[in-house]
Amino acid sequence: MNSTALNAFGNNLLKAKNIESEKKDKAFAKRFLNHLPFIESLFNEIYGGNAKRNQSFDALLNSIIESYLNRPVTFLKKDDEKEKKGNWFLSNNITGMSLYVDRFAGSINGLSQKLNYFEELGVNFLHLMPVFESPQGESDGGYAVSNFRKVDARFGTNEDLYALVENMNQQNMYLMLDIVLNHTSHHHEWAQKAKAGDAYYQDFFYFYDNRDIPNQLDQTMPEIFPESSPGSFTYIPECNKWVMTVFHSYQWDLNYSNPNVFVAMMDTVLHYANIGVDVLRIDAPAFIWKQLGTTCQNLPQAHILLRLIKQCVLVASPGMAILGEAIVAPNEIIKYFGTDNYIANECDVAYNATQMALQWDALATGDTRVMLAAQHPILQKPYGCTWLSYTRCHDDIGLGYDDYMIERAGFNPYHHRTYLKNYFAGWHEGSVAAGALFSVNPKTGDARISGSLASLCGLEKAVEWNNEKEIENALRKIILMQAQSMFMGGIPMLFYGDELAYINDYSYLQDPGKSYDNRWMHRPIMNWEKNEKRNTAGSFEKRIFKETQKLIATRNKLQVLSDTKNVTWMTPHNIHIAGFIRSNENKKLYCLFNYKHTASFLTWYAFKEHGERPSVLHDHWSGVDHKVGNDNEYFVLPPYSFAILEAAN
Ligand code: GLC
Repeated sequence: MNSTALNAFGNNLLKAKNIESEKKDKAFAKRFLNHLPFIESLFNEIYGGNAKRNQSFDALLNSIIESYLNRPVTFLKKDDEKEKKGNWFLSNNITGMSLYVDRFAGSINGLSQKLNYFEELGVNFLHLMPVFESPQGESDGGYAVSNFRKVDARFGTNEDLYALVENMNQQNMYLMLDIVLNHTSHHHEWAQKAKAGDAYYQDFFYFYDNRDIPNQLDQTMPEIFPESSPGSFTYIPECNKWVMTVFHSYQWDLNYSNPNVFVAMMDTVLHYANIGVDVLRIDAPAFIWKQLGTTCQNLPQAHILLRLIKQCVLVASPGMAILGEAIVAPNEIIKYFGTDNYIANECDVAYNATQMALQWDALATGDTRVMLAAQHPILQKPYGCTWLSYTRCHDDIGLGYDDYMIERAGFNPYHHRTYLKNYFAGWHEGSVAAGALFSVNPKTGDARISGSLASLCGLEKAVEWNNEKEIENALRKIILMQAQSMFMGGIPMLFYGDELAYINDYSYLQDPGKSYDNRWMHRPIMNWEKNEKRNTAGSFEKRIFKETQKLIATRNKLQVLSDTKNVTWMTPHNIHIAGFIRSNENKKLYCLFNYKHTASFLTWYAFKEHGERPSVLHDHWSGVDHKVGNDNEYFVLPPYSFAILEAAN
């Protein structure tokens, strides 16, 4: 359609829905008409040649208008407030925590009772791991959804969720929920109908009559869970067909080449917006487009679909930001912020998975050179977007950065990765880490790492050994890792339990629905009696809780730590220290992290390389003022410590 015709078409749709374009709905009508050309063009790029194009395009627009009409007033107001703030999610005053509702607080109502705990810690943003219906025992931690709109009875009811959101809003907290876009559970109504032979719903998935195409695809598609769920296809005896299952065999991949799938899932995205979601975590977006002869990851069509989602959200619920959970190679992650005409117009937030893994690399080696060599793609994040900055999450740690980064640091990639895996699995001589390898692929030699922050930092073993020095090191490492995630730029997202130094929980081994997946070792069940120890003098819980609290408070008070793309890496004068500057017109913060088990020395000259020479540096962490010395003298960072130094002339 040409632009005049499209505008007239859009206006007619609005009229038909009684939208008051000149009165109360003016802002919406304007957004709708402004974004319509982008929505149409992106939609046509994917579905232009599809026989269902017209009917599904109408359905999409209808869903956008309906969702606006159903948007609760509270969230319309919140949209306005966020718009006034600009990119609200860049703020240094947002700190998140990711948690399983049941393991953290028993239920959604239980969680409502715990909001004061978050306030005490300084957390004002919650990522609830999936709460919608998912079959027990075949749930992948909730990522195998059988009903996208019904809260699982294990957690409570839809009403409980709405009440929680209301309580959170009253406390000015933000909410993140997942949309599991790539697949459904095999118990989802669509899957059930497909299994029963309904061709309409079989077209919602990738069904094959025989192994011909699956065999071809298997040649190029990497396996995600090679141990527990090898291959990417599952035989369905009920209909004598094969279905694509990239993740577990009970997670069926949705077929986004069918516009009906996109329209239905987009409607769910907007439904979540109207529940009051502030940041929507799009689960596994890298996988949503499949094509023969490719890895079926990060394909251009996946990006087009994400841009389309963003455009629809901008119209219907502009206050909801989009997080793309793309845990892929550094150069690929960055593309989820948008490229070409869509720079900063795709996902607003992405996991800084590269940086997270690099911090683990530095911790195991005591050497920050790989981290430094990897910053180039990380720093390409466009202005207006931000990272989700984290040390641990519910998933494994993948060493997904590129070989050239390791080579540039002077190491052999194969030996380096082998060392890291052995170190964190606790196999390397002298390793204090108590983790495990996850998804070992004997064909490729790949493996990822499971384990809680505290256990990977050595606390579990050190306590077992009753080794005071290693206990002290472990506690320092925990805070060092959290500090760098906190000050790097982006929304810090803590993982529940880490604020209290929870070690691995091996009870998952007794549960047949979990025992095949060792990621459960770092998904603890909160023990609120133990959590009380955060008030007990001399306990690890108290030390880690207080220091985490202090990290958040320190970040909150320094506006320069909001993500205005203001990170400059310092010249590496000492390979054990990661150092960068966060600056704005009137402040310069030197953030330094010592990954070595002994003290590290940094020449004072390092502080004189970027503009004015400071005479005194105030450490916001220790409170100490350091007089800047001569170039042949040193600033000393104790073992596994950090400093947040502000020039105070
Ligand atoms: C995401 C989730 C992970 C899950 C996978 C499949 O990567 O974080 O936990 O297993 O998607 O849904």
